[in-house]
Amino acid sequence: MARPITRWLLSILVTSVSAAAADPPAPPSDLECFRPCDETSCHVDIQCTWDPKSDPKIPTNYTLHWEPAHNHDSHVKGGTSLDGRIPREDFSGGGELRVWVEAVNQNGSNKSQPVVFNVEGITKPPPPKDITAEPEPLEFLWNTSCIESSGRCHIRYRTKGETDWPKFEDEVHSTYAVEEPDFFTVYEFQVRCDCGTGLMSDWSKIHSVRSSESDPVGEVDLWRDCGISPLSSDCFLTWKSLSDSQARGFIRGYNLTVFYSNGSELQMSTAEPNRQYVHEIVEQLCSNGTTKWFLNATLKDVSSVSIIAYSSKGATKESFLNISTTGKEENVLKVNLEMNKENLSVSWDPPSDVSKLKEYVVQYKQAGSPPGREFDWIRVKKSQNGTFFKGQFQEYKAYQVSVFKVLNSKKVLHLFTEIGYSRQKALLAVPSFKVETLTETEVTLHWKAIPLSEQTARIWCYEIGYKWLDTQKVFNVNASNDHQPFTLRDLSPGDYEVWMRAITEFGREANATETFKINHQQDMYAFVQDQSKHVH
Ligand SMILES: *[C@@H]1O[C@H](CO)[C@@H](O)[C@H](O)[C@H]1NC(C)=O
Ligand SMILES: *[C@@H]1O[C@H](CO)[C@@H](O)[C@H](O)[C@H]1NC(C)=O
Ligand SMILES: *[C@@H]1O[C@H](CO)[C@@H](O)[C@H](O)[C@H]1NC(C)=O
Ligand SMILES: *[C@@H]1O[C@H](CO)[C@@H](O)[C@H](O)[C@H]1NC(C)=O
Ligand SMILES: *[C@@H]1O[C@H](CO)[C@@H](O)[C@H](O)[C@H]1NC(C)=O
Ligand SMILES: *[C@@H]1O[C@H](CO)[C@@H](O)[C@H](O)[C@H]1NC(C)=O
Ligand SMILES: *[C@@H]1O[C@H](CO)[C@@H](O)[C@H](O)[C@H]1NC(C)=O
Ligand SMILES: *[C@@H]1O[C@H](CO)[C@@H](O)[C@H](O)[C@H]1NC(C)=O
Ligand SMILES: *[C@@H]1O[C@H](CO)[C@@H](O)[C@H](O)[C@H]1NC(C)=O
Ligand SMILES: *[C@@H]1O[C@H](CO)[C@@H](O)[C@H](O)[C@H]1NC(C)=O
Ligand SMILES: *[C@@H]1O[C@H](CO)[C@@H](O)[C@H](O)[C@H]1NC(C)=O
Ligand SMILES: *[C@@H]1O[C@H](CO)[C@@H](O)[C@H](O)[C@H]1NC(C)=O
Repeated sequence: MARPITRWLLSILVTSVSAAAADPPAPPSDLECFRPCDETSCHVDIQCTWDPKSDPKIPTNYTLHWEPAHNHDSHVKGGTSLDGRIPREDFSGGGELRVWVEAVNQNGSNKSQPVVFNVEGITKPPPPKDITAEPEPLEFLWNTSCIESSGRCHIRYRTKGETDWPKFEDEVHSTYAVEEPDFFTVYEFQVRCDCGTGLMSDWSKIHSVRSSESDPVGEVDLWRDCGISPLSSDCFLTWKSLSDSQARGFIRGYNLTVFYSNGSELQMSTAEPNRQYVHEIVEQLCSNGTTKWFLNATLKDVSSVSIIAYSSKGATKESFLNISTTGKEENVLKVNLEMNKENLSVSWDPPSDVSKLKEYVVQYKQAGSPPGREFDWIRVKKSQNGTFFKGQFQEYKAYQVSVFKVLNSKKVLHLFTEIGYSRQKALLAVPSFKVETLTETEVTLHWKAIPLSEQTARIWCYEIGYKWLDTQKVFNVNASNDHQPFTLRDLSPGDYEVWMRAITEFGREANATETFKINHQQDMYAFVQDQSKHVH
């Protein structure tokens, strides 16, 4: 394959920079010799190119060598050159040449594999010209740049984004039609041709064309973000843009119909920028590259929503979300979460009865994030019991992961919710820890629950303890009861120190502490806070 001549010239001219290894140079590769042609004639001299293969920072000299391929051949002469050029006078009588490149650096030399060719068979035309493409049917067209008769051509093509050239055809002439192309997809292609004799041209530059549109297929993936209360009715509608393979064309808009509980309906379209509701439809980028849409209005009083996507060629089937039917499944299942900064994987024990099951929906939501944000969902086939999100999961933030069952009747049932962290760190003490006396032998402890959005680690439970004289007593409080006051009973008179702390994977977290005093009976009961304030 030919390389630009400048590339090896540059590597000859580089003379600076410290040398690295004590090795001779690597052998040059891909030696190619040809007589370059333009559209009217071919050059008389032979030009050779190669890939130096050596580190361009190491000063290396390259010398082209040639000799007659057959000792008896008196028409061709041997010689060397530094610029890769074999002058006409060395082969003007015709015949075969053997050619190689030698690389020399400070510590030695190395040779390429030799190539042998007939000096008459190496004319090389310029790449084809007039390259165009038609989208429907998808066809690539070109003219060869041959002086006389044209020869065969090679074509290679791919869809945009591919790095290799998976499709290759030889024996083509001036046109090539792609069979059953994907719709509305950018195709890239290159051609090269020979002229009946001699070598193939270099590849043309890359040309591209978008194939024709068709009607969209499938359904819009419609869901709702109810924050961290999956069963709440205070939800926001969200949906994903159709994938290119579903859209099969340019999607002009998404048309929504919102059905209210009182029987009225509202039509909305993302295509109508003038309507008053459009400010409520917010487009935002999903972390993995798909676009999500978000209706910035609560779905209170909405019973259901339907949506279509449409292009100039047609529309998708309607997809439908019944807002009012989210219920709770009683059989709580075992779930397993694994989470780090980039990945969240969720799996669960499949329910025993899947007869009415259409699919699962798995969603995550960062606690405390605004509606539509830090939120994503995936639909999972009923035959699977797990799924995987790629994303950017912030450290020290609680993510709530929920799994829902969608039944064939479109009814949605909430299966479970679990909290995950990509990374945890120690928690602060519970705020507002206070003691309130009830009777002569009882006090009640109050505190504020740490909001989930501020919990930097998963709380397994709370520990409450007190010290009185030399005795110490410890109680565990379920993390789900974190908003209920806790009562200490059967207390004897004396001075008490009481504390509360969360238990996480780091062990016992920071203490919140208080002191109080139980007075002897007959006394007015009272307690002391911080050894100073008296409260009754
Ligand atoms: C040549 O060998 C010497 C001595 O080993 C070394 O210092 C130098 O870097 C080598 N040069 C090249 C181009 O490898
Ligand atoms: C040629 O290069 C190869 C690969 O770098 C090396 O192993 C070999 O020793 C070199 N040959 C000579 C003759 O220097
Ligand atoms: C390359 O060639 C030049 C000119 O002949 C010479 O001065 C230089 O030493 C050579 N470099 C090497 C690495 O052989
Ligand atoms: C190829 O050349 C012919 C004759 O010059 C010309 O009519 C035709 O339009 C060219 N094809 C393309 C694809 O430009
Ligand atoms: C979607 O709504 C827009 C704006 O109301 C309307 O022009 C268009 O025809 C609708 N498309 C379909 C397929 O209903
Ligand atoms: C139905 O409820 C919606 C939302 O609450 C309200 O905007 C609409 O005016 C109501 N329609 C009727 C006919 O009451
Ligand atoms: C949603 O609307 C509220 C108030 O109307 C506004 O403060 C908020 O920025 C909006 N959110 C987005 C994502 O546009
Ligand atoms: C939504 O679900 C409820 C309960 O299953 C059902 O009564 C209602 O008809 C459904 N709404 C629509 C529009 O299908
Ligand atoms: C996330 O998953 C991908 C693919 O499984 C993996 O290559 C990558 O290393 C994972 N990232 C982290 C932070 O573990
Ligand atoms: C999911 O299914 C696989 C194989 O079917 C099983 O090994 C795995 O334990 C299941 N996961 C859960 C959480 O049940
Ligand atoms: C983005 O995520 C959606 C589901 O959340 C998935 O269907 C899609 O394939 C993902 N896209 C990329 C480019 O990873
Ligand atoms: C918390 O308080 C208890 C009781 O006073 C004490 O034993 C423990 O050392 C304290 N821990 C921290 C971390 O302050």
